[in-house]
Amino acid sequence: MNTLPAASNRVLSGMRPTGRLHLGHYNGVLKNWLTMQHEYPCFFFSADWHALTTHYDDTGSIADHSLDMVVDWLAAGVEPGSATLFVQSRVPEHAELHLLLSMITPLGWLERVPTYKDMQEQLREKDLATYGFLGYPLLQAADILIYRAGLVPVGEDQVAHVELTREVARRFNHIYGREAGYEEKAEAAIKKMGKKIQRRYQDYCRLYQEQGELEALGLGQALVQEQQNLSVGDKERLYGYLEGGGVSILPEPQAMLTEISKMPGLDGRKMSKSYNNTIKLRDDPAQVEEKVRKMPTDPARVRRTDPGDPAKCPVWEFHKIYTDESVHQWVQEGCRSAGIGCVECKQPVIDALKVDLAGFAERAAPYEDDPELVRQIVADGCEVARDEARETLVEVRKAIGLSYR
Ligand code: TRP
Ligand code: SF4
Repeated sequence: MNTLPAASNRVLSGMRPTGRLHLGHYNGVLKNWLTMQHEYPCFFFSADWHALTTHYDDTGSIADHSLDMVVDWLAAGVEPGSATLFVQSRVPEHAELHLLLSMITPLGWLERVPTYKDMQEQLREKDLATYGFLGYPLLQAADILIYRAGLVPVGEDQVAHVELTREVARRFNHIYGREAGYEEKAEAAIKKMGKKIQRRYQDYCRLYQEQGELEALGLGQALVQEQQNLSVGDKERLYGYLEGGGVSILPEPQAMLTEISKMPGLDGRKMSKSYNNTIKLRDDPAQVEEKVRKMPTDPARVRRTDPGDPAKCPVWEFHKIYTDESVHQWVQEGCRSAGIGCVECKQPVIDALKVDLAGFAERAAPYEDDPELVRQIVADGCEVARDEARETLVEVRKAIGLSYR
């Protein structure tokens, strides 16, 4: 039987520990974490094995970066009382699920994931023709499925990985969750129960599947459990049937994007550490101001009197995110008519960024001063995560036929 709780409202997300977080992480993912932590059970982790896939020859700071990243999460407002914070490599169950999933994942599925070729092209100086790098999205699938998460807040570049996760889950459920002739066998099992009981069972099925009544699911399961004349196999079929199908061992997750899932960088390309075009969450106000002052603008505006076009200017991309409609109009008109200068135009962006990042460094300080506190938060989170991960693996091993008990 599938004894795990329905986990569709569970949230899982991770980030690679590649250094201090910047506005791309904040606007692209972290702001979603902050709201979701109060609405759902959340699991957030440092994907240190994923960092290895591209930095296997440069591992000196992965562990430090992991903890430093957790400091950024905490300073942003992630609350260890609401969300479970942990480190991937401390929950080795992810690796076992990754291995098991690798057995059923066609090579072509991995080769076709867009990030596979893109990253190899972007990082030409690196040798990314490794087994581990090809498996990057499958490891991510294991991260998600081991918690049976329903929602995965990510940036736009990760949506394809969640899509692959869905396909792998579907394939797993298809191969291991459903026996041949399942439907017929389940219906035959129903007929083995008394007429009245059959009717109650079917009522529970309907209440749960049509109206999502969890209580009906529990009552249905109890009813099946009470039946003396049913074999173990029949009971398992009826538990699965209650939920509306075969045994769904690994539920299919959904990606979730923030409104700003693609944060532009200071130079107009996507904000990314490797482009050196970021504003870090722990930059102080003076640094933020200097970075914006140095931003390139529409190259046509050589002199203050030359008119420009916001569509050709990275500063406008920041306005779109950080300022309101009336400022937008002021920029559009002032830029095109050379009524405003670029220095002037940047000021509202600087002001808004300062507001967005206000107090960040101060909130990080107590954690920077007490690394032991951060380690403890992570150690506690790892324990909670491991318990959950172990439960899923028990079911997964059972479904595959690898339970030696
Ligand atoms: N690949 C993600 C990134 O680069 C990080 C990640 C790893 C992740 N495992 C995950 C994100 C599971 C969401 C769910 O940002
Ligand atoms: Fe860019 Fe503003 Fe200068 Fe126009 S006025 S080029 S939008 S910074």
